[in-house]
Amino acid sequence: MKNLIIGANWKSNKTKSEARDWVDNFYEFTPREGLEVIVFPPFTLLDYVSSLVKVNDLPFRIGAQDVSFKGGSRFHPERRQSVTGQIPIDLIAEFASYVLVGHSETRKIYSDNLIKGKMEEVLDGQIEGMEVEPILCISKIEELDNMLKPDQIIAYEPLEAIGTGHPVDPKDVQAVIEEIKKSSQSVGKVLYGGSINAENVVDYLSTDIDGFLIGSASLDAGEFISILKNV
Ligand code: PGA
Repeated sequence: MKNLIIGANWKSNKTKSEARDWVDNFYEFTPREGLEVIVFPPFTLLDYVSSLVKVNDLPFRIGAQDVSFKGGSRFHPERRQSVTGQIPIDLIAEFASYVLVGHSETRKIYSDNLIKGKMEEVLDGQIEGMEVEPILCISKIEELDNMLKPDQIIAYEPLEAIGTGHPVDPKDVQAVIEEIKKSSQSVGKVLYGGSINAENVVDYLSTDIDGFLIGSASLDAGEFISILKNV
């Protein structure tokens, strides 16, 4: 069985009690070996969900959905710059071990330059010893330009497949994965995201995919457990 990263991207969803109900379902279920499950709660729940995971020793990693384009680390007060509403990497590092950068939904409002700044912010953090791994989300190959580090995890999420119920055909996903992997030696694992559910996820297991980023279907714990069981 393949080693896979499976991300639950909650996007702009869940109150505290809804998060608690979701997590409750995992006291009885352990994902199989070889699956790395990452939960991406909204910022308001990062502390709460990471505490639940720690206290109950659940087999989840925690990821943030975004990061400030500049913040500077607290180790460099001269470079630190506050941007109201933006969360710098050192504040994220307290709770999360992954962060999404450039999710297609945010590329509608963020420029390429801004996304590059976010990548730099995460890498600055890594230089300072913060163990937060960026997952660079791309909707098309050209967006790989923001790749700045070796072994970079990529999430291929074509805009037209996100939240539409129309996933990209596994054959086409395979072709893009090959193209991504060939494009640079810096590419590490490649995930696919876009309308994956418990039923269609099996169609992708014969591709060279290294995992999935799952939005809508991750919100329901039962559906998400079925996905974990089916891979
Ligand atoms: P979706 O979202 O599974 O709802 O299509 C995936 C994503 O945007 O990460």
